[in-house]
Amino acid sequence: MRDVYDLRSDTAIQPTAAMVESLRGQYFADDLLSEDASTQQLLDHVCEAFGKEAALFTPTGTMSNQIAAAVVSRPGSEVVLGSDSHIYNLESGGLAANSGVQVRAVGADAGEYRVHEIEAALRTSALQVAPTSAVFLESTYNLNAGHVSSLSNLQEIREVVDRHGAFLYMDGARVFNAAEKLGVELSEIAQHVDALQFCLNKGLGGPLGSILVGTSEFVREAAMIRQRLGGGMRHTGFIAGPSLLAFEDWRERMAEDRAHAAVLASALRSVESVTLMNDPIETNIVSFSLAASRSEAKHFEQQISQRGIHVKPIGPAAFRAVTHSSLSADDVAFCAETMVKVLTAVADSGR
Ligand SMILES: Cc1ncc(COP(=O)(O)O)c(C=O)c1O
Repeated sequence: MRDVYDLRSDTAIQPTAAMVESLRGQYFADDLLSEDASTQQLLDHVCEAFGKEAALFTPTGTMSNQIAAAVVSRPGSEVVLGSDSHIYNLESGGLAANSGVQVRAVGADAGEYRVHEIEAALRTSALQVAPTSAVFLESTYNLNAGHVSSLSNLQEIREVVDRHGAFLYMDGARVFNAAEKLGVELSEIAQHVDALQFCLNKGLGGPLGSILVGTSEFVREAAMIRQRLGGGMRHTGFIAGPSLLAFEDWRERMAEDRAHAAVLASALRSVESVTLMNDPIETNIVSFSLAASRSEAKHFEQQISQRGIHVKPIGPAAFRAVTHSSLSADDVAFCAETMVKVLTAVADSGR
């Protein structure tokens, strides 16, 4: 029995004992000078896995996304992105503030981008028009959903974007979950985009940080912008060493996280007052709403948190639960059982 079951995000994942142990006796050199051996090893490994020329370590997924936009956009240009994307909704207006670009949002259906909307959104320069500099995709795609874009969807977008000549980028914060769900190599996803970022500290389980991958030219520019934003770091081996371990068995862990999310979803589905908001559950995120008042929903949240279970509120009576490898099958079973009990009691009492 644990004290805390943190399902709010897969960022709650904790470094394993082996990761902590791997730091013992290491010499950490300076990554700004490209001298740290484990950082270089991690970046080389990443380039190979994604089939890209170069990679760059950054402190956060947000910074990677912002750097990418700054590399590929001129002020006054337009970036086409998903209306539910992190970049659009949760990066504090960074595209406008950091790169002077405006955005044009398009829709997606359960992770499948509407290609005709992307095509219609692409603009070339004319006197009164902001030209499209880039299309920014996200997979898994998100705002609490964890849907996966298919390879054929990515291929179609690639063709459309190529005809236009814009840059194609992917925010792949959870691209490992996407690759596991699709049963493909990371490079099979990455081949369709010019550059992408992924987060080390989501389901993957590294301590923190993000890696940008792309062409050597893109990464050279990105390194300059990272420095300008204050994101160049010195002893990144603290992060790179444990992150290398995270790469060893990621596919098995993502499969387990997905299976655990399915267990949770199936338990929640059994409660009449619950509606799953992202059914079918494709990866490790389960979002659900309650046919309940705001105060009933609050009561549910308080009751489960007294038992150590934390979910993220995403609406007046809606929550998100994310599985990750710091939670075992038994932990998830306990969370599912407790949530069902509390939800049933809340519904019965008609609070
Ligand atoms: C899809 C997506 N992109 C980017 C980010 C930003 O990552 P960070 O928190 O490292 O800035 C997140 C964070 O949850 C995310 O879900």
